[in-house]
Amino acid sequence: MQKFIRSAIVPVAGLGTRLLPATKSQPKEMLPVARKPVVQYVAEELVANGIEQILFVTGRGKTSIENHFDHDPELARLLAASNKHELLEQLSAVELNAKFFYTRQRLQRGLGDAVLCGEHFAGEEPFVVALGDSIIGLNAASQAVSRMAELFQARHASCVLAVEEVPPEETVHYGIIEAAESEGDVFRVANLVEKPAPGQAPSNLAIAGRYVFSPLIFDMIRRVQPDSRGEIQLTDAIQLMCEEGRRVLALKLPPGEKRYDIGNFGSYFATFVEFALADPEYGPGLRETLERLLAQTANRA
Ligand code: UTP
Repeated sequence: MQKFIRSAIVPVAGLGTRLLPATKSQPKEMLPVARKPVVQYVAEELVANGIEQILFVTGRGKTSIENHFDHDPELARLLAASNKHELLEQLSAVELNAKFFYTRQRLQRGLGDAVLCGEHFAGEEPFVVALGDSIIGLNAASQAVSRMAELFQARHASCVLAVEEVPPEETVHYGIIEAAESEGDVFRVANLVEKPAPGQAPSNLAIAGRYVFSPLIFDMIRRVQPDSRGEIQLTDAIQLMCEEGRRVLALKLPPGEKRYDIGNFGSYFATFVEFALADPEYGPGLRETLERLLAQTANRA
């Protein structure tokens, strides 16, 4: 656990249109993955990586995120009165050992714009950005952010990105790095290409939802022109850093700390099943149910 970087910005203001109708009146970041909402895994991971203060960049319809991390005295009293001590303990774990702050992105103008909402919070210090719809590692067991912060400090970088290998046909969904040089799992980034078509991607290394930035990123975001949908992309701001010769590094996530993207139904379903299978109480029963269902489908085919 590093202590060099203490602040993290967690953007949770997106509309989540790819998960409609599930996200019509609830944030995608509050969708449950097994027992907990996505954003709780994100906060737990950050705290386990030495982060002491977290700014959620929220928007309309996202108040349930604030409520989730707030103390609920009525519920606590009720559980205590009915001797539900185990549940009480789980609830107090939600109130993590960190300070939570909230600000609103008034218009959903893209991830870059959401990060810019955290400028005053970050001040002059380097900080982490963790996407509120992505979990790193099974049950968020990942020290990737700590390793990224150490790399940032040791190499005097302006930005460190987490990246992961994706199959060639999937580069079209992600920001992909073009590496100038590499040493083990660390890459110097020369360029970023947003959602390249198969065959045109400079690598199969996709940006994976965790970043460490120097405050310089805010100036870069301000210089970015909105894209065709009117959104200010964070990737474009990082590309500006590359073009100016700033040190932008990427750290490849090991297979045991993969990124679980909750932004589309395909990977949301797969993530839910994987986390539920790992549940000590319900996992074994679910495995049996799935095996039975799969056997039935195979018999029908
Ligand atoms: P996405 O790129 O998945 O965008 O956001 P989205 O708008 O939420 O989803 P779709 O495309 O409509 O389905 C990645 C992360 O950045 C946040 C989201 O909340 C999510 O955690 N985000 C995105 C913002 O905070 N503001 C934005 O304007 C866009």
